[in-house]
Amino acid sequence: VPQKNHSLKEGCQLAARFYHHLLMHTEQGREAYNYARSARNVSEEAMRHFQIGFAPSEREVLSLLFKKREFDLSEMEEADLVQRREDGRGPFDRFNRRLIFPIWDMGGQPIAFGGRALDEAPSAKYLNSRETPIFKKNEVLYAYHLARPAIRKRKFVVLFEGYMDVVSAWMAGVDNGVATLGTALTGKQAQLIRRLSDQVTICYDGDSPGEKAAIQNAETLEANGCNVKIAPIPADRDPDDYIREQGARAFMENMIEGAVSVLSFKMNAYKKDKNLQRAGDRKEYIEWVLEALAKISSPVEREFYLKQLSDEFSISLEALKQEQYRMYQRVR
Ligand code: CTP
Ligand code: MN
Ligand code: MN
Ligand code: MN
Ligand code: MN
Repeated sequence: VPQKNHSLKEGCQLAARFYHHLLMHTEQGREAYNYARSARNVSEEAMRHFQIGFAPSEREVLSLLFKKREFDLSEMEEADLVQRREDGRGPFDRFNRRLIFPIWDMGGQPIAFGGRALDEAPSAKYLNSRETPIFKKNEVLYAYHLARPAIRKRKFVVLFEGYMDVVSAWMAGVDNGVATLGTALTGKQAQLIRRLSDQVTICYDGDSPGEKAAIQNAETLEANGCNVKIAPIPADRDPDDYIREQGARAFMENMIEGAVSVLSFKMNAYKKDKNLQRAGDRKEYIEWVLEALAKISSPVEREFYLKQLSDEFSISLEALKQEQYRMYQRVR
């Protein structure tokens, strides 16, 4: 029902403004402000740009505001902004004691929220709004409307996992970043990206889930007509950590400009699982690369990887090509 969705969006808009005000201008928000500013290095400019907020510890703050403004509380419950108590008594706020990241629709209307716990080792570090009539998680990309002008100008998209990565990258001058809110990327989200640009740099966490997702999402993006590169984030870091530790310039040069082809990224990932000192593993690896190369249509690109393989293992180009030919015959 359009009328209802309208009021759900109004509720989200009021919540976003209220949470942002609490973070920026109140004593109640000071601890969260200090956490964002000192522990996470978020500038005031970034807090404003991303309308970052704070949901306080008391559990009836937003609900009270909704009551005062005569919002329909059952609709605010549908927007997942308030929750009903189990004993049926009046509703309480959904988010508490969390740094709040509004999640917007394509037009820039807040439709959901992500909350980051202020404490380490909390029950759940991140809490997102449930799916609601106005929020379908797998149809939304975080910061899409904010990044759109920069994506058009720079002619590529940087895809991150999380809001903090997008915010840190923005402060480092990478203003064409969006995020999937976790590691899953749907075809629908790939289409949203493709609509703005067909060049994508995936910049996921360096851990094993991030690495796996980067490879899988690269395939989804390629299937939707995108050209993909992947940033070589170090194994135990994420983009936000990397920027904090290495600085904006290193991030730009080594991760964004230094992003590698999907095949190179896969080759590195494959190598980590193998011990290339062992002849058996080495043979398996080389055969795997040769097989992957068979799918590359550009002869120049194929030759490039063959040359790399040849240098790395001191095998002549001639022998590699023969091996590839032999494999091809076998497959036929
Ligand atoms: N995320 C989410 N829901 C979860 C877990 C993660 O939406 N249950 C999203 C959040 O946007 C989060 C991103 O996925 O920012 C990346 O998650 P993760 O890498 O686990 O977060 P960390 O980098 O460990 O978080 P932080 O840097 O805040 O400690
Ligand atoms: Mn303000
Ligand atoms: Mn992660
Ligand atoms: Mn992370
Ligand atoms: Mn992180």
